[in-house]
Amino acid sequence: MKILYLNGPNLNLLGQREPEVYGRTTLAGIEAEVRKRAEKLGTKIEFKQSNLEGELVTWIHEAKGEFDVIVLNAAAYTHTSVALRDAIAAVAIPTIEVHLSNVHAREKFRRRSLIAPVCIGQITGFGTNSYILALEAAVNINGQ
Ligand code: DQA
Repeated sequence: MKILYLNGPNLNLLGQREPEVYGRTTLAGIEAEVRKRAEKLGTKIEFKQSNLEGELVTWIHEAKGEFDVIVLNAAAYTHTSVALRDAIAAVAIPTIEVHLSNVHAREKFRRRSLIAPVCIGQITGFGTNSYILALEAAVNINGQ
């Protein structure tokens, strides 16, 4: 089983970016945690980040036939991007929406997710653990 982790804008700054909201773990640190757990589960992962909406769209297209599940932290694009939503719908790869912070407990504009209706589900508010919980959920989608 292969899982593609995609991370959107500003997540490259994790560790230094608003640590009171997002914690002190860097994106590389999160990737390391996910890899450790994935190895134990016998799952292959690829982990990518882009600040560009179109690049994320292209990566979703390229995932078709390559990956069984996408775990997507679309960051701010969660709340704005019809293009990402359409890309997920187009490739029809089961996609899990994740967030480090609890988007429902913050500003009103963060409560709206344009991608949620085309995702299997949403994991939000567990910090680094949101990414690990998504891995467990992904493995279970395929009944392993
Ligand atoms: C985020 C929440 C988004 O609202 C925000 O724009 C982000 C990060 C999270 O992981 O908590 O950049 O996706």
